[in-house]
Amino acid sequence: MAEHIRVLLSEEEVDARIQAIGEQISRDYEGKQVHLICVLKGGSFFMCELAKRISVPVSLDFMSVASYGSDTKSSGVVRIVKDLDESLKDKDVIVVEDIVDSGRTLSYLLETLWGRGPKTLRLCTLLDKPERRVVDVNVDYTGFQIPDEFVVGYGLDYAQKYRNLPYIGVVELEQ
Ligand code: IMP
Ligand code: MG
Repeated sequence: MAEHIRVLLSEEEVDARIQAIGEQISRDYEGKQVHLICVLKGGSFFMCELAKRISVPVSLDFMSVASYGSDTKSSGVVRIVKDLDESLKDKDVIVVEDIVDSGRTLSYLLETLWGRGPKTLRLCTLLDKPERRVVDVNVDYTGFQIPDEFVVGYGLDYAQKYRNLPYIGVVELEQ
């Protein structure tokens, strides 16, 4: 079955929204330094673009998590596959994610990160599918709220493909 990608959010729309979030974060953290945590691999494209648009000093770190359970349903128990290199102690931390879906992964991750003593901890996501939420997660910065459709691009994949698309698209299977 061939796949077709329908554009949901164009490159221009995504870029403009990231610019606005970058400006908002720069205002909110004036006089401070922000420590961005990228959740690999999906958050990588968004974090790079966002970091370039933040005008206060920025430091970066990366982590990779996998959820226990089947591929289609995350159990909410997260295994850290690659941990952070640096301590979070007393830092103003923002976790940068590609998408919040059920919220299971992030609620577990945020709880774990709070235990490491950051001064503040906020969550920034490019996309949010509120209809899919199972666990309550407080999102501080949202790029776009989208309907319950499977999306790719800007770091998001379908079977590891399409992460490099410079826009957000919906995967459609052609008969
Ligand atoms: P959850 O919030 O614990 O359900 O998990 C969110 C994770 O599921 C995200 O970080 C993505 O890796 C993945 N995910 C959820 N929805 C999509 C989608 O529409 N496209 C690609 N990956 C998705
Ligand atoms: Mg992710």
